[in-house]
Amino acid sequence: MAKYKLLSRGPQAKLGLDIGSRFIKLAQSGTSSQGVQLVNVGYAATPLGSVTDGVINNAEAIGEALTQIVKHFHFKEKKVVCSLPGRAVVIRQVSVPGVNLNDKEIRGAALSEVERFLPFPLDEMEYDYEVLGEVQQGEVKQTSVLFVAAHREAIQRRIEAAHVAGLESVEIDVDPFVLLRSVVESSLFDDQDTFTQTFLLIDMGATSTSLNILKNGVLRFTRVFAVGGDTLTHAIESGYGLTYLEAEKLKREKAVAFIDEEIAQISEEERDAHELVRPHIETLALEIRRSLAYYTSKYRGEGVTKILLTGGGSLLRGVAAFFEEDLGIPVSHANPLKNIYYIGDMKDEAVAKMAPYMGVALGLAMRQMPQKFLGRHCLNVTIEPTYEFGSATQAGSLS
Ligand SMILES: Nc1ncnc2c1ncn2[C@@H]1O[C@H](COP(=O)(O)OP(=O)(O)OP(=O)(O)O)[C@@H](O)[C@H]1O
Ligand SMILES: [Mg+2]
Repeated sequence: MAKYKLLSRGPQAKLGLDIGSRFIKLAQSGTSSQGVQLVNVGYAATPLGSVTDGVINNAEAIGEALTQIVKHFHFKEKKVVCSLPGRAVVIRQVSVPGVNLNDKEIRGAALSEVERFLPFPLDEMEYDYEVLGEVQQGEVKQTSVLFVAAHREAIQRRIEAAHVAGLESVEIDVDPFVLLRSVVESSLFDDQDTFTQTFLLIDMGATSTSLNILKNGVLRFTRVFAVGGDTLTHAIESGYGLTYLEAEKLKREKAVAFIDEEIAQISEEERDAHELVRPHIETLALEIRRSLAYYTSKYRGEGVTKILLTGGGSLLRGVAAFFEEDLGIPVSHANPLKNIYYIGDMKDEAVAKMAPYMGVALGLAMRQMPQKFLGRHCLNVTIEPTYEFGSATQAGSLS
C-alpha cells in the first residue's frame, strides 16, 4: 500500500516548498475577499553539497536553511506541500489492455508495463497512478494510465528537512505538473485560443534543465537534462581560474548568451565569458532541437509554436534571443507572478526579481486557487517515455 500519494492534487496546505540544488524557495498563499492571494515568499541558498542529482543527501542542513527562511521572512503557517524534481521521479503514460478495469487490475497491468524502467526495487519505491481515459488501439480498447514513481527515501528526506524547520509535510507533488499549474494558470494564457497552442516550457535550474511540452493543458512530453546555470558558472570558474563565487558574479554581470547587433560593442571580458558559456547553451539548444523533432514525429508534424523560459538559469543575458535564433520559434520569459495578487510587506520590485525562481514553490502554494484552465487536477496528461533517471550532474551550489 502506497504511503505517499504522488498524484494527489488536493489543496490541504498553504505553503509550497521547492528544494532546488541552488536555492530553497518557500511561498504561501491565502484567501481574502479578493480571492486567493500570494501572501509571502522567501528563499535561501541551498547548503553546499546537500542536494545531488535532485536528491537530498543532508536533510539536516536543508532543514536548518529552511528554518532561517521561516524566521527571516516571518512564515507562520506550518503545513507544507513539497515537490519532487523531474529527475527524481519516473513519469510514464501506459496503455493497459481492456476497459472498465478494477483498481487491482489496473495496478497490476500498469506495474508490469513500467517495472523494468524503475531504477530501484519496487519495494523501495512509492508509486501512484491515475486513469486518464479510454483509447482505441486498432480493434482493441485500452485504458490509458498515468504512472508516477519515486524512491521512498527521496520523499522521506524532503519530509525530514521540512520537519527540522518545524513544518509538517502534508503532500508530495511532482515538478512538471506543478510548474504547468503555476505558469499556465497565472501568466501564460489570457484566453482559450492561446491556451490551445503547443508550448514548450523550459525550466533552467542550477544543475538541470527540464523541457515540458503542453497543448490544451495536456502535458505531452517531459524531459530533464543535467545541464543548468551552474554548468555555466563552472565553465567560467575553470576558464578563468576563479572561485565559484567569483565565477558566479562574473557570469551574472558579464556573460552573454547571444551577441546581436544591439550588443555588438561588448567588452573583451564579456566576449570571453560568452565564449566560455556558449558551448553549454549550444548543447542545450541541441537537446531542445532533438526533443522538438521527436515531438513533431510523434504528433504527425505538429510543432511547438511558442517557447517559455523559467528558472534562475533563464536570467542569463540574451538566452531567449539565442534560443529564438537557433530554434526559429518565438521565446519569452514566463512570469508566474504576473496575474497573482500579493499582499503584506512584499514590494513589487522584490517580488518581480523572484519570479523566475518561484515557479515550483508558487505552483505548490497555488493548489488552493481556483483553476482557470487546467481544472483542479491538471491531470489530463500524456507523457512520453523519455525520462532520464539519475544522469550525471554538474553539482555545485552556493553556501
Ligand atoms: N542573472 C543571472 N544570470 C545567469 N544565471 C543566473 C542569474 N541569476 C541566477 N542565475 C542562475 O540560476 C540558477 C539558480 O536557479 P534556480 O533557483 O531556478 O535553480 P534550482 O531550482 O536551485 O536548481 P535545480 O532546479 O537544478 O535543482 C543558478 O545556476 C544561478 O547561477
Ligand atoms: Mg529548480
